[in-house]
Amino acid sequence: MRLVVLVSGAGTNLQALLDAATDPAYGATVVAVGADRDGIEALARAEQAGVPTFVLRVRDFPDRVAWDQALTKAVAEHQPDLVVSAGFMKLVGKDFLAEFGGRFVNTHPALSPSFPGVRGAADALDYGVKVTGCTLFFVDEGVDTGPIIAQRAVAVADGDTAETLHERIKVAERAMLVETIGAMARGGFTIEGRRVAVGG
Ligand code: GRF
Repeated sequence: MRLVVLVSGAGTNLQALLDAATDPAYGATVVAVGADRDGIEALARAEQAGVPTFVLRVRDFPDRVAWDQALTKAVAEHQPDLVVSAGFMKLVGKDFLAEFGGRFVNTHPALSPSFPGVRGAADALDYGVKVTGCTLFFVDEGVDTGPIIAQRAVAVADGDTAETLHERIKVAERAMLVETIGAMARGGFTIEGRRVAVGG
């Protein structure tokens, strides 16, 4: 399975996929990494692994639609079977979803449908939940609302800050991502309404 991974930051989820894909038995390989900004650790990780990269900054385009169309084209050039948003801090538009809907997945550091948005770990902590976690889902038009592929639970500790909680969630998130993408690559997947089945 050919993966294009989209990133905006540290790229630890990307690194987990790159490491897993060094084993041919894994079933998936990262063919390109795209970003919405320069100078991030995630791009350095891709270059280190010898994976082609591309950067498309929203501000270099006349509007968001033009950026979305350019992103769609750049990703399509690498002929992915699955596109993985791994800490990509942009919402894609209609053109991207028309091309990659049903094969564009994202990770979110909370248990959907709770705490959507960019403050998933902090919002769970502020609310006072005792269990939170992470969610892998197919991206739809909403914010963290698409059909759920996998989830992992993480306990909230009394002394947690948003940062310590998020770091612990990210450990679970990386394992979830690697195991689930591998299972999707090797065994296939189906989406019926909101219900996703992986691996036959
Ligand atoms: C992950 O927790 C992801 O869910 C969130 O941002 C983090 C990205 O981490 N949107 P990294 O760049 O993969 O290290």
